Amino acid sequence: MRPVRFSPSILAADLTRLGEAIAAVTAQGAEWLHVDVMDGHFVPNLTLGTAIVAAARRATDRFLDVHLMVERPERLLPAFAQAGADLLTVHVEATPHIHRALQQIHDLGCQAGVALNPGTPAEAVFPVLPLADVVLVMSVNPGFSGQAFLPEVLPKVRRLRQQIDAVHPQTMLEIDGGINPQTLPLAWEAGANVFVAASAIFRHPQGPAAGLAALQQALPPAAAPA
Ligand code: DX5
Ligand code: ZN
Repeated sequence: MRPVRFSPSILAADLTRLGEAIAAVTAQGAEWLHVDVMDGHFVPNLTLGTAIVAAARRATDRFLDVHLMVERPERLLPAFAQAGADLLTVHVEATPHIHRALQQIHDLGCQAGVALNPGTPAEAVFPVLPLADVVLVMSVNPGFSGQAFLPEVLPKVRRLRQQIDAVHPQTMLEIDGGINPQTLPLAWEAGANVFVAASAIFRHPQGPAAGLAALQQALPPAAAPA
């Protein structure tokens, strides 16, 4: 049975009340917290940085999943490790030296993830799967929360699941973008086991705990968290 993790993205949280937002989702069972770092170059938006990672670290002992949507992430890895990240995920499109970047993350004492944009084929990360604790498939074009899920990434999720099971089964397969109670079962069936969501959780009309509960209930019964 694949383990399941939920990683609420605080990008859509009320940042004036970050501690409360984190407490709401961790009390509801979120195992991870996702922090979206954007540099205004790799993606057309500028968002969170080391100060927010450090603030989240002070607010919780849960696993901090830091998604670096930045060019040449190597430059910033030590600062994010120092801020308290548990997992640092870099885009395969963002550096010509993805293998070295993943090694560098491990050398900093963090888990290492590699992310793929919707237009990047699964094969782009096959050579580094043995170094990857996480593969993150973007199911929207990165840059903003609140976009619609792109179902055309599902064959790529299936292909990555097959390859991970064949060569490095402990790698987690994370999906990020447009995840809601309708799209989550599609991503699960294709092979994802870590689910990022920003708007479905933090913009839920009944609040973040209700938003996360709706996602948890959308998992097929056989997929009980392990
Ligand atoms: C998008 C970010 C996502 C985003 C998800 O570039 O990487 O993590 O916050 O937002 P939703 O869940 O609203 O699509
Ligand atoms: Zn993200």
